[in-house]
Amino acid sequence: MAMMCFIVPLLLAMLAEADEECLEMDVRMLQHSAFVSIETQLASESEAARKSLENCGHLIQDACDPNANAPCSNNCRIHTHGHDCYRPVPEVMAEHPGEDGFCYFNYTGFWVDPLGDNPDYVQSASHAILAIRGSYYEGFKKGPLITFNFEGKAITTYMDAMHYSYDDLYGYSLGYLQGQGLEPSLLQNNTEWISVSKAKCDQIQNTYKFQNEELVLADWLDYNQVIATKVACSAKLQPYLMSKSVLAAARYKSIDDCDPVTARDFAKHHYIKCLLGYPNSAADAAYLLARACLLEMGTHIGHFSECPYSPDVDF
Ligand SMILES: *[C@@H]1O[C@H](CO)[C@@H](O)[C@H](O)[C@H]1NC(C)=O
Ligand SMILES: *[C@@H]1O[C@H](CO)[C@@H](O)[C@H](O)[C@H]1NC(C)=O
Repeated sequence: MAMMCFIVPLLLAMLAEADEECLEMDVRMLQHSAFVSIETQLASESEAARKSLENCGHLIQDACDPNANAPCSNNCRIHTHGHDCYRPVPEVMAEHPGEDGFCYFNYTGFWVDPLGDNPDYVQSASHAILAIRGSYYEGFKKGPLITFNFEGKAITTYMDAMHYSYDDLYGYSLGYLQGQGLEPSLLQNNTEWISVSKAKCDQIQNTYKFQNEELVLADWLDYNQVIATKVACSAKLQPYLMSKSVLAAARYKSIDDCDPVTARDFAKHHYIKCLLGYPNSAADAAYLLARACLLEMGTHIGHFSECPYSPDVDF
């Protein structure tokens, strides 16, 4: 799930208040409550689903690699398939026909969480919305109103949780918000939704023509925080506790001297999920479509009851 990528700013916000030694535990608790529950839910749906999650890659130790640029964001050095993290994803996947990339690279980053077979995208989107929000949700339209300056346009949103800045703009950039042309009813048929996702993936690659050397898994893992920092730049927000290497990669010197995020950044982030399997990019897309919509002639992003479709979660 793209979903998977958004929790990091939220983790980092939490870390600002957490003791060092609590860090690992908090991160693990969050992961447990958030992602394991989604996986369990989906995996329990059928025997087939469980079978497809046998023999996934996994960590070779209990804790995430502390050298990653953010908590649990790059476990390649301690992963059973870690050697393949440093090669282009298209080459790796070509050697594993029919395998799911999220299973193969399971947990290289905390958001790389394999789905079972036959996913229910209405359910997975709702679960993801709740899981990623965690306890850091301020309430519907209770967060600060922020303005993105993105690709020459000004777009506002209420940042009701830390990850909203990333995910709202990510959804908008990919065209996966309600009001950008896709009917939420499509989520009800997973075959159809996966083909919608595949079409989007093809369109992304037709537009950006990413070269194999740009599509290396470890770089993708490390870049998630760089994107979060560039999003902060686009909204004139202070990035939370980013490491020096992340700030340098985002060319972040100050709130007025930094690189804004681009449509290309978001497209590449999503495209790696496409390469790891269309059911995974489809889960990302389902989450983005369910949670937000484009309003006010394309100048404001709304959520829940402001949107044509509101997922079955409290807000
Ligand atoms: C994915 O990896 C994590 C961490 O090693 C492990 O706990 C989990 O069981 C793995 N998931 C699957 C489906 O194998
Ligand atoms: C889902 O969509 C596919 C492809 O359009 C179609 O063949 C199938 O009958 C649909 N399934 C359901 C349950 O509607």
